[in-house]
Amino acid sequence: MTLHETLETAIRTIPDYPKPGIMFRDITTLLGDASAFRRSVDELVHPYAGTKIEKIAGVEARGFILGGAMSHQLSAGFVPIRKKGKLPHDTVRIAYSLEYGVDEMEMHRDAVKPGDKVILVDDLIATGGTAEGAVKLLQQMGADVVAACFVIDLPDLGGRAKIEALGVPVRTLIEFE
Ligand code: PRP
Ligand code: ADE
Repeated sequence: MTLHETLETAIRTIPDYPKPGIMFRDITTLLGDASAFRRSVDELVHPYAGTKIEKIAGVEARGFILGGAMSHQLSAGFVPIRKKGKLPHDTVRIAYSLEYGVDEMEMHRDAVKPGDKVILVDDLIATGGTAEGAVKLLQQMGADVVAACFVIDLPDLGGRAKIEALGVPVRTLIEFE
């Protein structure tokens, strides 16, 4: 199977979750499929193999799973970007909007150093509000965000342009309407 076929098969769609009208793209089935999970991570890190990446920054919650695996593959550190109130040390915080609500996210102030090359990862980009907030936090701390990676793009929601407007290239593996 091509990677595209593998992803199409492995990602489950739940209609009307968590609200009516949302087609929820569920990656737990992909994560539970050893081959699909490995191929996804391999594809996400492929362009950066052999380059010096200091940190992978993963967005809570599903970005943690992909980001941990990517960090291992690239011998990079991992930075958790979390919903507010979860991190124990000094944080920087930003409000953001997403497809079905608003929230705030944080990262530790000392999680990246100025000039660090960082890749942001999450499972999915929809409106781009979450990733935009995460990229802004990293850039505020002086990180050089070299890419933002997602397994799934929902192109109808226009997220990619928001991230590219911050000067960050976007890499995605599959699109859904
Ligand atoms: C989902 C997804 C992304 C975000 C994308 O997370 O994992 O983080 O939505 O949406 P956006 O591009 O419109 O911002 P969710 O907010 O559902 O949080 P969770 O991973 O903690 O369930
Ligand atoms: N986050 C925002 N929109 C989503 C969707 N349609 N499926 C899964 N996660 C999402």
